[in-house]
Amino acid sequence: MTNAYDDSYNRSINDPEAFWGEAAEQIVWTRRWDKVLDGSRAPFYRWFVGGELNTCYNALDVHVEQGRATQAALIYDSPVTGTIRTYTYGELRDIVARFAGVLAAQGVEKGDRVIIYMPMVPEAAIAMLACARIGAVHSVVFGGFAAKELATRIDDAKPKVIVTASCGVEVKKIIAYKPLLDMAIDLARSKPQKCIIFQRPMVAAEMIAGRDVDWDAAMQTAQPADCVPVKATDPLYILYTSGTTGEPKGVVRDHGGHAVALKWSMKAIYGMEAGDVYWAASDVGWVVGHSYIVYAPLLKGCTTILFEGKPVGTPDAGVFWRVIAQHKVKAMFTAPTAFRAIKREDPQGALMKQHDLSQFKTLFLAGERLDPDTLRWARNLLGVPVIDHWWQTETGWAICANCMGLHAFEVKEGSPTKPAPGWHLKVLDPESKTVNPPGQIGALVVQLPLPPGALPTLWNNDDRFIASYLEEFPGYYKTADAGFIDEDGYAYIMSRTDDIINVAGHRLSTGAMEEVLSDHPDVAECAVLGVDDELKGQVPVGFIVLKAGVAKSEADIVREVVQMVRERIGPVAFFKKATVVKRLPKTRSGKILRGTIQKIADNKPWNMPATIDDPVILDEITDALQVIGLARARN
Ligand code: COA
Ligand code: AMP
Repeated sequence: MTNAYDDSYNRSINDPEAFWGEAAEQIVWTRRWDKVLDGSRAPFYRWFVGGELNTCYNALDVHVEQGRATQAALIYDSPVTGTIRTYTYGELRDIVARFAGVLAAQGVEKGDRVIIYMPMVPEAAIAMLACARIGAVHSVVFGGFAAKELATRIDDAKPKVIVTASCGVEVKKIIAYKPLLDMAIDLARSKPQKCIIFQRPMVAAEMIAGRDVDWDAAMQTAQPADCVPVKATDPLYILYTSGTTGEPKGVVRDHGGHAVALKWSMKAIYGMEAGDVYWAASDVGWVVGHSYIVYAPLLKGCTTILFEGKPVGTPDAGVFWRVIAQHKVKAMFTAPTAFRAIKREDPQGALMKQHDLSQFKTLFLAGERLDPDTLRWARNLLGVPVIDHWWQTETGWAICANCMGLHAFEVKEGSPTKPAPGWHLKVLDPESKTVNPPGQIGALVVQLPLPPGALPTLWNNDDRFIASYLEEFPGYYKTADAGFIDEDGYAYIMSRTDDIINVAGHRLSTGAMEEVLSDHPDVAECAVLGVDDELKGQVPVGFIVLKAGVAKSEADIVREVVQMVRERIGPVAFFKKATVVKRLPKTRSGKILRGTIQKIADNKPWNMPATIDDPVILDEITDALQVIGLARARN
């Protein structure tokens, strides 16, 4: 017997044009598409060619016109500032239209880029939607990145305007954003024409005359701007994500496929209807924030929650339950690390008992591996399904999920269940490029074409798009995750096949950290690895070999490299541990034995690599790890 999932999945693979053409009927188009899927420039596939639409219209205006003007569109809940503010669809549409007018008055036109470097305030979402309204391309940069990372993104996206706030509010500190922005603009070769500054009461940003524009003042005199139709294939946004070097990848999202896939996903994956309250506790700087704080819930006509706080410490480990109860959240989406943080502080869930969670139906987790312990803890405590799903910045929405709006499968621990409709997932042997039998680990790849909403390319870099994702397995998209599919069709995601690590659900490149460490004048050679961490999943640890004759103390050098990573990549890298070693273990051909070092650090069984040039080095590494609290002592 088939079910709605099987039917949808099979149709999406066997007849993608019919499947997604039908889903596209839920979007308002100003011009209907000529072709659902254009493969004439394969491997560059394009969805809904010839079609025109406006994403902001579909997220806001359409709901106002169809009777949702007084329904809450966005609830800003900020325990760090003690604020709760609700925006109805009518209000949000008007504010967004006005800010779109502000951007237009600063010369922003269709196709121009706007960088948004903002904390979790509604103005961040307003700026994103305002860009979409006038066809400008936004690029949101996460607040936890340092000025240098911001500068790299400015140079790649070349924004006409940058929107920022005077500060972000972290658990116990205020982070002034404006000095970071000014520093980034100094570092960047490309200079924005204007910066629009949202002044928050905690910190007043100093304004640069002639360049900086005050958000509030500009809003007072702005004329609301209308929605500008754009091509389905035009870019809606660029979101930079860690690549295997210090150069981040500019993932492009188009308008048409994105709107179609995300609206469809709200029901099919999350089981949400218009009018329901949905909460993604992430940050607008990440893909989860783009897709499931801003675009998907609004496209669907849901109420979305924009939460400025943390799972613990704002003020305590009961804040998630308070938000769910107070705003009648039906489904929530966050990263497992958030639940590990709550579990650590309130293992019995005592704080939950103070709240009525009766309307809460499903918890969705993603961003990193969901460990069975956290899964069971959350499920037992909440008494609702806990659904792991797997996706990436590049894919924009879930590759694998238990699609709750189609068919709820039995949950298998360690698996994000089955490929979502649209994703023709396979496991290939990296050597022979043939499909692995069930249960055998290999490279997780998706047969082309990717479904709508997935990245069509990298910003101004088709060559890197091909080289990064399509070259190794011709005809497939390489996820760079390794895993397997079992006999029931459940997928298991085991590890990355590149240098990406996942720190508290944040994706980071160890290669980028190594580039920073190598810049220290006393460092001859280095390696950065992700080691297991109970709270954050993984944390980076640096191993450095010093140049001969260095006079400085090892402790000073470690302090300096830790500070360098903080200054150049940002606090989000959470690079706090490094150790000086005499040599790095290598194969005879000179490759650093990262896998072995990692196993030693994680106290996992390991075998002496046959190709190692000098086995004694591993003893030295074990001793060094022990000094910084990792690895057990040698026998
Ligand atoms: N702006 C500026 N700095 C930021 C920031 C922002 N938006 N977000 C984080 N930082 C800083 C923090 O202040 C911290 O700095 P510190 O080293 O000086 O203390 C550092 O970056 C690391 O932050 P974070 O990863 O949040 O760690 P934490 O120890 O403060 O909190 C968790 C741990 C688990 C509570 C937290 O990571 C969390 O809530 N994770 C939820 C998962 C999530 O949102 N994932 C996103 C993808 S779904
Ligand atoms: P990001 O692009 O930041 O969303 O990170 C994507 C990467 O996070 C994936 O390639 C995986 O390595 C990891 N990831 C995301 N979701 C999951 C999940 N549910 N299970 C295991 N790993 C995941």
